Amino acid sequence: MKSTPINGEVVKKILAQMNLGDLGAATIREVVKVVDLIEEASGEKFIRMEMGVPGLDPVSIGVEAEIAALKRGVARDYPSIEGVKELKEEASRFVKNFMNIDVDPLGCIATVGSMQGGYAVFLAASHLDPKKDTALFIDPGFPVQKQQYQMMGRKYTSFDVYEFRGNKLRDKLESFLKEGNINSIIYSNPNNPSWVCLTSEELQIIGELATKYDVLVVEDLAYFGMDFREDYSVPGKAPYQPSVANYTDNWVMLISSSKVFSYAGQRMAVLVISDKIYKRDYPHLKERFGVGVFGTAIVYRLLYSLSSGASHSAQYALAAMFKAANKGEYNFVSGVKEYGKRAQIMKKLFVENGFTIIYDKDMEQPLADGFYFTIGYPGLKGGELIEKLLYYGISAISLKSTGSAYVDGLRACVSQVNLSMIPMLEERLKAFNAENPIK
Ligand SMILES: Cc1ncc(COP(=O)(O)O)c(C=O)c1O
Repeated sequence: MKSTPINGEVVKKILAQMNLGDLGAATIREVVKVVDLIEEASGEKFIRMEMGVPGLDPVSIGVEAEIAALKRGVARDYPSIEGVKELKEEASRFVKNFMNIDVDPLGCIATVGSMQGGYAVFLAASHLDPKKDTALFIDPGFPVQKQQYQMMGRKYTSFDVYEFRGNKLRDKLESFLKEGNINSIIYSNPNNPSWVCLTSEELQIIGELATKYDVLVVEDLAYFGMDFREDYSVPGKAPYQPSVANYTDNWVMLISSSKVFSYAGQRMAVLVISDKIYKRDYPHLKERFGVGVFGTAIVYRLLYSLSSGASHSAQYALAAMFKAANKGEYNFVSGVKEYGKRAQIMKKLFVENGFTIIYDKDMEQPLADGFYFTIGYPGLKGGELIEKLLYYGISAISLKSTGSAYVDGLRACVSQVNLSMIPMLEERLKAFNAENPIK
C-alpha cells in the first residue's frame, strides 16, 4: 500500500468497523464519527471540513449578558413562550436596521435554534390548506430540514436551483406552483451548502409568485449578512441584506445566532413572522391545532408543545447582541469575515490541485467566499472522493444528501480550518493530486 498522510491500515480498519457502505450517502454526524475515530487511532489531526460548526469565539457581549441574566436569577422562571420583551424589540429593530423591513415585535419569536423555528413553521405550513400538502425546497439545502419533514410525515419536493438562475427561476417555480399542492417555498440565503446567494431579481420572482399562488415563503437567514461582496453591516443604511420580504407579505424568516454570533451552543434564534401572516386566520389550522391565527398557533400550540419556550438566559444574550449591532457598537459582519478569507485561500488551493468548484457563480458574478464551498474531482464519485480524502487527512460531506443535482460533489466548510492549518492542507492536497492523476 502506498504511503499516505494518514496510515492507510487505520483508515481501512475504521471504515470496516463503521460499515457505512457508500460514504456519499452518510449523514454529517456519521462522517464526523468516522473522522473522530481515525484521528484517535492514528494520532493525526484532520483538516475537518465536514460540519458547519462556528470556528470563532462566541460574541462576548452575549456571554456577558447571559451570565448577568443567570446571576439575576432568570433560571428560576419559565420564560414567556413568545420570547422576552427585550429580545422581541431588539429583533424587530435588527430586521429594520439591516433589512429595512418593518415588523411588529409581536411577530419576533424566540426559538431553540432555527432548527426549532423551522420545525414549528413547517408543521403549521403543512396544515394551512388541505389541498396544499407539499412544501417546495429550493435546493441544494440543509439536509436536517428534510429530516424534519420525514419526522412529521408530511410531503416535500425540491429542485436544484443551479440550472434555474435569474429569470429561468420563474418558469421553474411556476411549474410546481400551478399544480396547486404547494404550501411553502423554503431556501437559505446565503445557501448552505453551495453558498449561492439569490439576487434581488430572483427574490422578487419568488415573492411575486408567493403572492400569486398564496404560498408561504420560509427564508432561512442562518448566514445573515455573510455575502461579503457587499457590506450589510451598517445599521439603517443601504445596502441591506436582500430579502423576499421586499416583494411579498407571505413570509417568515429564521434568524439564527449560531453562525452570525458564533453562539451555536446555546441554541438560540428568532422566528420572524410578517405582520400580515402573524394575524391571518386559517380555518384548517384551527381544525388541526384548535387555533386558526397563524402566529397564535405557532406560539401557543406548537412552540408550547415542543419546548415551552427557549432558554431564558440565552434570550437575554441574543437581545444584547442584537442591541449592540443595532446601536452600531458591534459590527457582526466584521466578526465573521474571517470565514471569507479562509474560503478564498482554500478554494485556490483546491483548484491548483485538480479540483473543480461546482457552484461557482451567482449569474455572471463569481460566487462569494464564505462559510461553505463545493468541490469535485474529475473521475471520482462523491462517496469515493470522501473516502480517498480520508487517507490524506481531509474530511467533507457529499452534496447528495443536500438535494444537489451534482451528487458527485462535496461540501467543504471552512469554519474549523484556521489559517495556521493552510500549509498542511496544501501539502496534503499536493500529495492527493500527485497520487490520483486526472485522466
Ligand atoms: C441553512 C441552515 N438553517 C438552519 C441551521 C440551524 O441553525 P440553528 O443552529 O439556529 O438551529 C443551519 C445550521 O447549520 C443552517 O445551515
